[in-house]
Amino acid sequence: MNKERIAAYLASLEPFDDGPLNRLRKDAEAAGVPIIRVETESFLRTMVKILDPQSVLEIGTAVGYSSIVMAKAGAGRIDTIENYEKRIPAALDNIRQAGFESRIRLIEGDAGRVLKELIAGGAEPYDLVFLDAAKGQYLHWLPDILQLMHPGSVLVTDNVLQDETVMESRFLIPRRERTTHARMRDYLYELKHNAGLQTSVIPLGDGISLSVLLDPEDQ
Ligand SMILES: C[S@@+](CC[C@H](N)C(=O)[O-])C[C@H]1O[C@@H](n2cnc3c(N)ncnc32)[C@H](O)[C@@H]1O
Repeated sequence: MNKERIAAYLASLEPFDDGPLNRLRKDAEAAGVPIIRVETESFLRTMVKILDPQSVLEIGTAVGYSSIVMAKAGAGRIDTIENYEKRIPAALDNIRQAGFESRIRLIEGDAGRVLKELIAGGAEPYDLVFLDAAKGQYLHWLPDILQLMHPGSVLVTDNVLQDETVMESRFLIPRRERTTHARMRDYLYELKHNAGLQTSVIPLGDGISLSVLLDPEDQ
């Protein structure tokens, strides 16, 4: 199976959009800002339509692209976390220009700290969590993320296949990437073996995991 040809073909099926969202994508890509791939965007939009989430937690705002995608698809209130100061003004500006200031709240700061603050502040559990930030931290953040979900909440994690290197032996991974590589494998193992979660890993885009938090009675 030629995955690149399939990906190119599937991307070619996406309806052409020359509106503001497409301009935002082009600007982000030209500036080297890492945003969700086209096929991941389509998946996220479909998930929002299926789940109709009243509340979303996104970890990793960048310039607000995926938040805006989810808001446009009909997600209710979105809290999105970003710690890179240089991106925050652009994200706020993009969210304002898209007209979603009242629905998207950008929370500035390190996600590890913000997650704990949300829990301590008694945040209502979110219906959908989209995890798209520092890949090496996912396993570390997972217990707090689970505390911010309710049975039936869905966790979508992007980039879990790490440019198709996640299945390789650590000896084939450049030394500087080995820690992240090992942590992503541990994260996927945990998602698949945590009795409280039902998870499917989908080789779409850079790899997506889709997990639902189970009711304790269903475990
Ligand atoms: C892949 S980008 C997010 C893209 C965005 N979800 C989109 O598709 O439009 C990841 C973002 O996570 C942010 N990030 C990384 N580590 C973080 C952390 N510890 N706390 C908060 N944000 C973090 C990065 O600065 C970066 O902007």
